[in-house]
Amino acid sequence: MTLHTQLADDLCSTGFHIIDNFLQPTSYHALREALETTYQQGSFKPAKIGQKQEKADNTAIRSDQIFWLDKDAGSSAVNNYLAELDKLCHLLNQSLFLGLMDYEAHFAIYQPNNFYKKHVDQFATTKDRRISCVYYLNDQWQKTFGGELILYDKNDQPDTKIEPIGNRFVCFNSDIPHEVCTAFQARYSITAWLKVRPLKI
Ligand code: OGA
Ligand code: NI
Repeated sequence: MTLHTQLADDLCSTGFHIIDNFLQPTSYHALREALETTYQQGSFKPAKIGQKQEKADNTAIRSDQIFWLDKDAGSSAVNNYLAELDKLCHLLNQSLFLGLMDYEAHFAIYQPNNFYKKHVDQFATTKDRRISCVYYLNDQWQKTFGGELILYDKNDQPDTKIEPIGNRFVCFNSDIPHEVCTAFQARYSITAWLKVRPLKI
């Protein structure tokens, strides 16, 4: 991975950064295969919203399915990806002094007609998620397939539309409202959050 110095600058100025052709093609394909195998094994679950006890099914807000990735149980493709996230934490700690300590990550599949309505990734109580990262695993994605990630601006208006193109990596500040438009084809991704130590409440 080439870690652009632009990444830290962009997070500070626009709040997001996009890297196309993020990984070597072999790593990209291995991750896509790992996601498909996991899905075929029936290991994905409907995604929930909220945290711990408050976790709720809410298919009116999001209808994707997810599989949480585990540092110790993952395939080598997954472990290599998680190692990239570690590197990113280090880079951001060095350049922006963010104090990132950890991350959580999951595979996600949006089947046709699935979506995730406007939301923020930070939970009101802990706010430990600082940087949201999405890596797309879609071969030959086309505009007509929908499924764009939309980032909202400071006036809460839709601002930036990002297509979920294969091998594209996007990161943004986790307090930015965003949504996933309805996808009309199966849409694959890995979502991750780089986290600081949670606030004690
Ligand atoms: C999320 C999310 C964006 C995307 O999982 O919280 O906003 O483009 N994902 O998949
Ligand atoms: Ni989100």
